[in-house]
Amino acid sequence: MTVLPRSAVFINAAEVAVCTGPPRASEDADPAGVLHGAAVAVVNGVVEALGPQDDVLAEHPHLERVNCAGRVITPGFVDSHTHAVFGRYRVEEYALRCTGVPYMEIARRGGGINASVRDLRARGEDELVEMALPRLDEMLRGGTTTAEVKSGYGLSTESELKTLRAIRRLNDMQPIELIPTFLGGHEVPPEYRENRAAYVNLLVEEMIPAVAEAGLARFCDVFMEPGVFGRDETERILRAGLAHGLRPKLHADELEGSGGAELAAELGAASADHLGDISEAGIAALAASRTVATLLPATLFFLGRPRWAPGRALLDAGATVALATDFNPGSSPTPSMHFILTAGCSRMGMSPAESLRAATAGGAAALELADGRGTLAPGAPGDLVLWRASSAAEIPYRLAAPIIEGVWKAGERVV
Ligand code: NIG
Ligand code: FE
Repeated sequence: MTVLPRSAVFINAAEVAVCTGPPRASEDADPAGVLHGAAVAVVNGVVEALGPQDDVLAEHPHLERVNCAGRVITPGFVDSHTHAVFGRYRVEEYALRCTGVPYMEIARRGGGINASVRDLRARGEDELVEMALPRLDEMLRGGTTTAEVKSGYGLSTESELKTLRAIRRLNDMQPIELIPTFLGGHEVPPEYRENRAAYVNLLVEEMIPAVAEAGLARFCDVFMEPGVFGRDETERILRAGLAHGLRPKLHADELEGSGGAELAAELGAASADHLGDISEAGIAALAASRTVATLLPATLFFLGRPRWAPGRALLDAGATVALATDFNPGSSPTPSMHFILTAGCSRMGMSPAESLRAATAGGAAALELADGRGTLAPGAPGDLVLWRASSAAEIPYRLAAPIIEGVWKAGERVV
């Protein structure tokens, strides 16, 4: 993060959505925790006071004032699943898919993840950094103040390390705080097509130790899906990650269910992501665990799939739900958490308040960030978004409308 922590008091907001409390939303009357007549004081980058405006102003009479003029304050989005470091976009695949060619078929024809792998391997680290910066800026302008970024388009020790080093440099070059994930198990690269066991060995014996040794990732993720990585391979990779201090995450049951949610719960993963085809047993397993169910509706929308992840059923079962973009060049080229909120409401049976909390506090839970991130509570980072809306519920309703008035990171205005 590059910004210097600042102080300010935010006054005259119509609503402040604090998004506190555990993100198991369904039993709460108001999962977004909307306050009326409240002010927020941020001191040296951290929320220090939040409550009735007169009280907050009396406590902090000398802070610079930001007049919110009847608009709405939310925490900054925590986008807990992105692949934002990649080479070129894969525009040509979209045209093909729109004429009916399925995602997995395009991958079999040499497109898909491996097309991005060929592309990324040919680029230098500096170039990857340059290409990612404008994308991160788009995310920031869309209200994202913390984001997870995965490797996974390198699939060789050298190119995975190159990607993770690019992520680390990007973290220091712009305001969004980046949480790095090692996704060497994103696909089997072409040179190992005939010998996938050797690739799994490479992941376990060389890549994971190298990534952990260099301190370049917090999480280890695998794309577990029929045709990509199977259950036993996935378990072996994630257990190797755990042995090296990398917390597990899992692309689970994305297109065709294969028990990914159950495996994530069994391993105590931080999150099981996608879940477009999760089973009843998978829902029950996540609900009984601490593993966060991370839903990525832009992916299924963009791939033209008729189904959506069962957000309502997961919430009702008692699972912790997060919403994220999956920003990547193949299945979800969007940086927009605002669109994700609307998809949560219109397609997954979540209320506006549940969607908002899933996109903020839920994302923080999926990244195991315990500093109050994704909420506006005393002690939390002063990361917030000011919306040209008169209520928090109006935010997802204004589908894809550019209604962000400003974004603050650690109390510093960054948009
Ligand atoms: O999350 N599922 C695997 N990985 C990405 C897609 C990556 C790509 O197509 O480049 C996803 O959907
Ligand atoms: Fe993904």
